Amino acid sequence: MSEKLLKAREYETKQEQLIREEQRPLFHLTPKCGWTNDPNGFSVYHGEYHLFYQYYPYDTVWGSMHWGHAVSRDLMTWEYRPVAMAPDEEYDSFGCFSGSAVETDDGRQLLIYTGVCKKEDEDGVVREYQTQCVAVGDGTDYEKYAGNPVITMKDLPEGAGPYDFRDPKVWKEDGRYYMAVGNKTPDKDGQILKYVSDDGYKWTFDRILTRNEHRYGLMWECPDYFELDGKQILLTSPQDMLPEDLEFHNGNGTLCVIGTEDADGNFSGEKYHSVDYGIDFYAPQTVLAEDGRRIMIGWMQNWDTCGHKRDDMPWFGQMSFPREIHLRNDRLIQKPVREIENYYGSTVSREDVSLSGSTQLPGIKGRCMDMTVRVRPKGTEGSYDVFAIRFADNGKNFSTIEYDPARNIVKIDRKHSGSRRALVHQRRCRVSDLSGRITLRLILDRYSMELFINEGEHVMSMVVLTDVSADGISFEASGELLMDVEMHELVRG
Ligand code: FRU
Repeated sequence: MSEKLLKAREYETKQEQLIREEQRPLFHLTPKCGWTNDPNGFSVYHGEYHLFYQYYPYDTVWGSMHWGHAVSRDLMTWEYRPVAMAPDEEYDSFGCFSGSAVETDDGRQLLIYTGVCKKEDEDGVVREYQTQCVAVGDGTDYEKYAGNPVITMKDLPEGAGPYDFRDPKVWKEDGRYYMAVGNKTPDKDGQILKYVSDDGYKWTFDRILTRNEHRYGLMWECPDYFELDGKQILLTSPQDMLPEDLEFHNGNGTLCVIGTEDADGNFSGEKYHSVDYGIDFYAPQTVLAEDGRRIMIGWMQNWDTCGHKRDDMPWFGQMSFPREIHLRNDRLIQKPVREIENYYGSTVSREDVSLSGSTQLPGIKGRCMDMTVRVRPKGTEGSYDVFAIRFADNGKNFSTIEYDPARNIVKIDRKHSGSRRALVHQRRCRVSDLSGRITLRLILDRYSMELFINEGEHVMSMVVLTDVSADGISFEASGELLMDVEMHELVRG
């Protein structure tokens, strides 16, 4: 084991002990210590879910990337494994960037990642070089392949950009290995390249899967490519986006491309929409569970919101709640994984609550819950103008979800959550017109809120850093409406 990896393992072992359990979310995975960004290597290996993550153990800011590692049997309870990789080779000395994992034919676990190093070119400019590398292991310890890097600039097709070339997502099909990887052309257009291999080590360029054509941002990071309910899906995270109505916003976004793959393996995109309409979600990755479900997890953070943090927190960055995904009416539908039900504590249910003005309901409060609120007009359509839920409320700090039934807009807002930074604190999303009816399912964990609207048709995620003692919840209507509320407290056994 390299000195760098050993040092990181020793450091995180000591540091982890200094973090009390209640300083972390109840279910959302945080780094063992320090910083995390993208989920990596989300896979099933020997009957367990493995989730690696972009990791800088030594501070709560981005640094030279390691791969942190955790395993789970049910996606709800994660157990840390020792840091899997450190940037300890010349070709990855600037960091082991994002990648994925797959089981090899001989039962080992292959990690495929982007090795980044900095080199001074002949013109005197120091540039970042990104190549694809592999490491193989037993689920705990990994050895980098002596033949690394396995894909370099030399393997790029004509017209590809030499510098932005990263985030390989690997899968196995008909006994062969395939990889989708992000690239940016010299004229700043994102594209996804596909490579193929017989053994996971020796790769050849296959084709350009798809090009952005200068539509959605510039570089396309962290691709994932899979079949879902009879269609072919590409997920990617574009950088430097421009806004489009309420569908896409400025900065780093997420994009779901729904399309088809023809018999020759050519992909054509048909529908394009955001994956998550909230503030904090990026770089999602999926896994095919053994029972056939496609499960997605993302970084519940965004590069543009990293300044939203608390100095007293010993970690930075958390993963989203794992979501089962499907297609319905040309949209990606997301639901919290059903395993959540095994962690329900007490339940409070109220039906046909008539709401006008603001109210609290007995027994409905807390910061860790799975709560579904169904709202409908009382009497005639147009009986109310705004419906709102206030949560993480202590009288002074609070966050809100607001629904405007005339415009069909849901807004999430954490402006009053205690943040002292001028960052994005609100976001709006256009939802289906159901004549004033809406279903809002909130997953609250200690430091986050994920909102699943109308059975997962739209999802809005945001980090909420208000102290956990702020546990008030209230409902508000201008006008009159009826609502049903079902709240399950979330608990650890
Ligand atoms: C996306 C990303 C990836 C890269 C990694 C570096 O969030 O920028 O493209 O591999 O983070 O940490």
